[in-house]
Amino acid sequence: MSVRHLRLGVNIDHVATIRNARGGRHPEPLRAAQVAVAAGADGITAHLREDRRHISDEDIEELARKIDKPLNLEMAATEEMLTIALRHKPHAVCLVPEKREERTTEGGLDVASGHNHLAPFVRELAAAKIRVSLFVEAHPVQLAVAKALGAHVVELHTGAYCDAHAQGDFAKRDKILEQLKAGAKEAARLGLECHAGHGLTFETVGPVAAIPEVVELNIGHFLVGEAIFIGLDASIRRMRQLMDEARGGAGTSFA
Ligand code: PXP
Repeated sequence: MSVRHLRLGVNIDHVATIRNARGGRHPEPLRAAQVAVAAGADGITAHLREDRRHISDEDIEELARKIDKPLNLEMAATEEMLTIALRHKPHAVCLVPEKREERTTEGGLDVASGHNHLAPFVRELAAAKIRVSLFVEAHPVQLAVAKALGAHVVELHTGAYCDAHAQGDFAKRDKILEQLKAGAKEAARLGLECHAGHGLTFETVGPVAAIPEVVELNIGHFLVGEAIFIGLDASIRRMRQLMDEARGGAGTSFA
């Protein structure tokens, strides 16, 4: 695998959202994970929320047992979630902020003000040989504190960048993209592995995939939405292709 290979973690939360709309078993997140792996996903990401609105405890158990690619468990820093993570020992845990009323993970973790709360979680997960990722905004203070906390990875929040693109505010989008580039550079300088994700689409993935310090993207909602029109396999393969093209220098800017 080339040094420039960019990993794709496919987030399957919203397969569970559709399943839960009817309360039965279909469509199964495990099957979606298997399709994702066959389509070129390098890992599977799932967010076990405190309110269990999509992914369930049973989903995590099945994914941990039956998927032979790395599982990235997104979770809030709570005692309940820590116990679950230590039971399943996923490849990685990404600590995310969680507010009950929010529709999705709306911002990064404020690791600077949350340092004292987060420290024991990072310590216990790392002691269990789980890679610890912190979902943060691309801000130098957040990155420095993530490093001080002993995290292995930071995942840069791309939500505001994607929202600005969707709203047609291209000046804002490009400014946030510059912040993401600087953040990725700073993360690498600090010795942190750099991931990125949230809200990425076929239109917005290229410039983020082209950031050389970013080694993994986690993408979910758009892939599952697009699967309705073209199928899950095709939507993941297309995303993979766009990522590879951007890594090779194509499609990296909005003309
Ligand atoms: N990365 C993190 C840390 C997330 O919380 C999420 C959403 O669960 C994603 C990536 C994927 O975001 P989206 O579903 O918008 O692609």
